[in-house]
Amino acid sequence: MNLTELNKVATAMVAPGKGILAADESSGTIKKRFDAIGVESTEANRRDYREMLFRSKEAMSQHISGVILYDETIWQDAKDGTPLVKLIEQSGAIPGIKVDEGTQALPMCPGELVTVGLDKLAERLKKYYERGARFAKWRAVIDIAGGIPSMTAISVNAHALARYAALCQAAQIVPIVEPEVLMDGDHDIDRCYEVTQRVLNKTFQELRVQRVALEGMVLKPNMAISGKKCAKQASVEEVAEKTIRLLRTCVPAAVPGIAFLSGGQSDEEATAHLNAMHKLGPLPWGLTFSYGRALQAAPQKAWSGKAENVAAGQRAFSHRARMNGLASKGEWQSSLEQKAA
Ligand code: 13P
Repeated sequence: MNLTELNKVATAMVAPGKGILAADESSGTIKKRFDAIGVESTEANRRDYREMLFRSKEAMSQHISGVILYDETIWQDAKDGTPLVKLIEQSGAIPGIKVDEGTQALPMCPGELVTVGLDKLAERLKKYYERGARFAKWRAVIDIAGGIPSMTAISVNAHALARYAALCQAAQIVPIVEPEVLMDGDHDIDRCYEVTQRVLNKTFQELRVQRVALEGMVLKPNMAISGKKCAKQASVEEVAEKTIRLLRTCVPAAVPGIAFLSGGQSDEEATAHLNAMHKLGPLPWGLTFSYGRALQAAPQKAWSGKAENVAAGQRAFSHRARMNGLASKGEWQSSLEQKAA
């Protein structure tokens, strides 16, 4: 393992003004997104849609540091035969790959999940590296409800995340370590804070036990935020203040970067939260976005599966990428959104 090189990639992934496009929706998830815009989820449509994003010149060259791909996409070619990975490289962004294989029910723990995909991972990583992937992603899912999460779910998911991260580094691939505490419940922000703290502490404990080099990874956490069904929604300032306090408590300064998931926040909320956090600096790590829905909802709607809408889809994507790029430097203002509208 060349740690200097891993650190260089991790640092580039969280460079100020840039962040990560999470375009790694599994076949099931992209079908849900396409259903919402009335587009059939065929291999060609998935390719056309992602090609539109990767050919968005302004977004890709100025505001996107890396793209997380799904297995299907990393092997796909654009319409003109250029591998999609090459389009990403040519834009100056770094290709990455989702390597977990989804979740399964965790035995003895009703309602809880464990992420799977460690078997044969070493062999898969080798092939992904040869294809151009320089970072990877593994997502663990922790739900908050009555009586959960259990310590069992937190432990087994942290263990798997660390196993994955160590295998990635051995393959010269930067692991994005993503322990996602879901925001779907009716819990308040303080309960989210408390659970996320337990999850992050356990995750870093496992990373240390399994000898993962913190300098060669990126953390992808949720923010400390109210559950979507909670009657009392925390303000932008409270989310920013509590998230930064939480991360300062749990994330060692050796970690080069933190890139948030959007988790179901609206596009503008996700941007406003990241921006507000940068007002609380200086921060010990790079802090940016690794959004899926909060970057893609607008371009998906603008595109709606029609070739004549490609330019509009690219404009919508470039706008969100630019807004989040500004937020990653604390330079965003809501008036910029109104102007664009
Ligand atoms: P969202 O930003 O839509 O939560 O997706 C990010 C991601 O990669 C989840 O694993």
